[in-house]
Amino acid sequence: MAKRYGILTSGGDCPGLNAVIRGAVLKGETVYGQEFVGFRDGWYGLVYGDIIELSRTRVRGLSHEGGTILGTSRFGPYSEPDGGAENIKKVLKNLEIDGVIAIGGDGTAAASQRLYEDGINIVGVPKTIDNDIAATDYTFGFNTAVEIATESIDRLRTTGNSHKRCMVLEVMGRHAGWIALHSGIAGGAHAILIPEHPESLNQICAWVTSVKNRGRSPMVVVAEGFTLPDMETAHSTKGLDGFNRPRLGGIAEVLAPMIEERTGIETRATVLGHVQRGGVPTAFDRVLATRLGMATTDLVADKGWGQMVVLRGTEIERTTFDEALANHKQVPAAQYQEMRVIFG
Ligand code: F6P
Repeated sequence: MAKRYGILTSGGDCPGLNAVIRGAVLKGETVYGQEFVGFRDGWYGLVYGDIIELSRTRVRGLSHEGGTILGTSRFGPYSEPDGGAENIKKVLKNLEIDGVIAIGGDGTAAASQRLYEDGINIVGVPKTIDNDIAATDYTFGFNTAVEIATESIDRLRTTGNSHKRCMVLEVMGRHAGWIALHSGIAGGAHAILIPEHPESLNQICAWVTSVKNRGRSPMVVVAEGFTLPDMETAHSTKGLDGFNRPRLGGIAEVLAPMIEERTGIETRATVLGHVQRGGVPTAFDRVLATRLGMATTDLVADKGWGQMVVLRGTEIERTTFDEALANHKQVPAAQYQEMRVIFG
């Protein structure tokens, strides 16, 4: 009998999720005769057995579509009374599903590891625009977010130049500065502020003033998780998310008036927000996501439960959930210093 697998997308959405789903269904059907269903809205669909059939026809032309056709949520598989491995085992048995493919970030990988230890057949695909999962060189979605942030820098530059203002652009990334660093380099920012390397207000204002003194309009890119040396935690005024983590955002609006007051340069803040997660994935992300999706079909065919597919160099490889969770990938000091020497 054909093996049947259930795919879910959990946590924040990310450009490329649909390309993973398409890659898995196409290769799984073609090469292994596997069948697929999708769980609606992340772990919720798994806990409550809410599924849609995923055939070759259903995933046709999907790789360029942003978002996820399955829906997603920050619902945890153990957090509700109906959750937990024993219930999930019954759901999988009733629906005749042989294993789960969970596409998600570190919260999803942690939940998957626990389910695996509790006897669920599960494998994973890492995703996040934040690019902060150490087990993989890149996560799909990151490249798209960087493109969007870079285009925003280009656009802010022309309006900043016209008014001779300092422009501060805040990008996402949670506690990692990858989106800020890459878009800041690509967009030629005069200062890039990331969580891994706090900078003082004096230093930031010195960079801004030196740019202004050369007759230019300063462009500052700040990651949402950036902290000034006197801040104990990243700026957060929006409470907690579904995994009990503080929701970040708004540091640009804190910094802009400080910069303006200290330097006398009119300053505006832009918080880019969820625009970075929306719309069509770049070609790079479509390729990576498709390859990861295809590789999961090999993984489930091999019964490689408890593992994830990851990118190392140019190759798709496998690692355990444990290893993937062991390290948070942050911007190394050397990579930041490499750029910091030309700030200002
Ligand atoms: O992890 C991806 C991410 O976009 C972060 O960069 C950001 O802090 C967070 O998710 C926003 O989450 P939400 O969509 O729940 O507001």
